[in-house]
Amino acid sequence: MFRFAPLISALVVVIGSATPGLSQDATAGEAVFKKCKACHQIGADAKNGVGPVLTGVIGRPAGSADGYRYGKGLAAAGEKGLVWTEELVTNFVTDPNGFLQVYLDDPKAKSKMSFKLKDEKDRLDVAAYLATTTDADAAAAQPEPAPEETRTVEEVIDDQVFTEDFLADPANIKTGKDIWFAQCTHCHGFKAYPGKAPKLKAGKYKPEFVFKRVYKGFKKMPAWRDSYSIDEIRAIVAYVKSPGFSP
Ligand code: HEC
Ligand code: HEC
Repeated sequence: MFRFAPLISALVVVIGSATPGLSQDATAGEAVFKKCKACHQIGADAKNGVGPVLTGVIGRPAGSADGYRYGKGLAAAGEKGLVWTEELVTNFVTDPNGFLQVYLDDPKAKSKMSFKLKDEKDRLDVAAYLATTTDADAAAAQPEPAPEETRTVEEVIDDQVFTEDFLADPANIKTGKDIWFAQCTHCHGFKAYPGKAPKLKAGKYKPEFVFKRVYKGFKKMPAWRDSYSIDEIRAIVAYVKSPGFSP
C-alpha cells in the first residue's frame, strides 16, 4: 500500500483548492518569477528555453507553446483538454510529476519540469503574475504535431554520428548543460554522489555510448527518449564530452 501514498497526496494537491486566507499578489509574483527564469521567458521577445515561453499561459491549452517540444505527459494532458487556469498552474508547480500522474491517471507519467515551488504564497502570486501577461498569438497557437519517428530504437542509435564540430559547438554544450542540471543531477553529479547513480567517467565514454545510455536507458538508468528529442539528447552528449563537464 505504501507505494500509493505519493499519488494520494498528489490527488489532494490537484483537487484541493488553495488555503483560504492567502490572497494573491501579482507584483510579488513578478519577483517570484525570477525563480522560473532559468527555464522560462515572458514578453515580446520571449523564446523557448529549457521550458516553453510562458507569455499568456493562463487560458492557453497545456503543451501548446509554438515550437516547443513537450514531454509526452504534458502533451497528452493538452490533448485530453487541459487548459491552464491560475489554480491549475498553482497545482502544477507544486509537483509537476504528481500533477500529471493524477490528471492522466497514470502513475508513471512524468514532466520535463523538475522544478517545484515549495511556498504556497509564492505559487499563488506567480500564477497571478502569469495571468497579467497576455499574448494573442500564444493563445491561438496550436501544438506542433510531433514528427512521426518511424525508426526503431536501435536504428536511431546506429544513425548517430558525432563530429568534432558538433561536440565543440557551444550552443550544443549549453543546451546539454541546461538539461544536465535540470534533470541528470537528481542522480548524477557532485550533489547526488554517493547515491543513486555511478559517478560518470566522461573521458572514458565514446559519444555514441553516452547517447545510447541516455536514449535507451540501462538497468536503473531511465530512458530519456520520451522526455527529450534526439537533438536534445545529442546536445547532452556534447555537454558530457565537453571539457567543462563536471560529473
Ligand atoms: C529547471 C527548469 C524549470 C524551472 C526552474 C521552471 N520550469 Fe516550468 N517547465 C519546465 C519544462 C522543461 C517544462 C515543460 C514540461 C513538459 O514538457 O513536461 C515546463 C512547463 C511549465 C508549464 C506548462 C506550460 C505549457 O505550455 O503547458 C508551466 C505553467 C510552468 N512550467 C510554470 C513554471 C513556473 C511558474 C515556474 C517558476 C515558479 C517554473 N515553471 C519553473 C522547466 C522549468
Ligand atoms: C533516476 C536516476 C537517474 C537519472 C535522473 C539519470 N541517471 Fe544516468 N544512470 C543512473 C543509474 C542508476 C546508472 C547506472 C546503470 C547501471 O549500470 O545499472 C546510470 C548510468 C548512466 C550512464 C552510463 C554510465 C556507465 O559508466 O556505464 C550515463 C552515460 C548516464 N547515466 C547519463 C545520464 C544523463 C546524461 C542523465 C540526464 C539526462 C542521466 N543519466 C539521468 C541513474 C540516473
